[in-house]
Amino acid sequence: MHRFIQQLPKVELHLHIEGSLEPELMFELAQRNQVDIPFTSPQEVRDAYQFTNLQDFLDIYYQGANVLLHEQDFYDLTWAYLLRCKEDNVIHTEIFFDPQTHTARGVAFETVIEGISKALDQGKKELGISSQIIMCFLRHLSEEDAIKTLEQALPYKDKIIGVGLDSSEQGHPPEKFTEVFRQAHEAGFLAVAHAGEEGPAMNIRNAIDILGVHRVDHGVRCVEDKALVTELAETRMPLTVCPLSNLKLKVFEEMEEHNIVELLRQGLCVTINSDDPAYFGGYMTDNFNAVADAHPMSHEELAQFTLNAIEASFIADQEKQQMKNTVHKFLTIHG
Ligand code: ADE
Ligand code: ZN
Repeated sequence: MHRFIQQLPKVELHLHIEGSLEPELMFELAQRNQVDIPFTSPQEVRDAYQFTNLQDFLDIYYQGANVLLHEQDFYDLTWAYLLRCKEDNVIHTEIFFDPQTHTARGVAFETVIEGISKALDQGKKELGISSQIIMCFLRHLSEEDAIKTLEQALPYKDKIIGVGLDSSEQGHPPEKFTEVFRQAHEAGFLAVAHAGEEGPAMNIRNAIDILGVHRVDHGVRCVEDKALVTELAETRMPLTVCPLSNLKLKVFEEMEEHNIVELLRQGLCVTINSDDPAYFGGYMTDNFNAVADAHPMSHEELAQFTLNAIEASFIADQEKQQMKNTVHKFLTIHG
């Protein structure tokens, strides 16, 4: 099973590039940029990654991002992630970045987007991995701040396919960002939002109905509203689920309790993603393995996660069809 999973073509739709910062690179960048970090070794960093909830993680995650200052840093970060994608047979990835985490420290929007997009361009040319960029608003900050960030993004619209919403869900519901999402739609951006990770099912409804999202990030708490689950299945509204993240942040205590396979079997467009792999102990293959180990599944079901991700991706229909053909061909040979 693990061999099949390793070789299976994969598509990632929920990856925070800042969350792919491995402790070794964090140390290298801290030295290069002469930034103080409160750790003496990469192992000490790893030992600190014990979280009891989302906020615990976010506090450490924002601290880690302090070592990212220059275009080269964002380039190196993104390139390291792409090399991991290659190992895991990820053929397409749509990555998030959090501009406000950087602009609040005096790093220019341009520095961030140029570093990331240069690495992604090279990834397409040298590794054959296609990609898109989505910028997320930090929901613990004000809507006014998000609107300023949207304005900063306008000159780079050709590099950014959509907007998202992340950070602390508790106390910062989707409807707080109604106006900025309205403006983003008007400017031609697609939209996604984290909802129903730690927050209630109502946040999923409101992300869909009020923010007009095309995908829901996480969304696993939809099961608390039976009518919503039926609606998600009927509309094929995608959920970008992150199994190892959910375990690390105690959304589920055990992988056996995770609802992703149940949702797949109910016909929802669920996908498997790594979220913040450097913090949660695994990239795409690790996430697939963890789900398959806890929930016995057929090869077809495993491949369905990739087919769902292709359906949910922000790429042209013709490319989607080509990717689907690749997966069907893989299943014929390895199935
Ligand atoms: N930012 C990075 N990872 C996140 C997550 N899992 N939830 C909310 N915000 C995040
Ligand atoms: Zn996330």
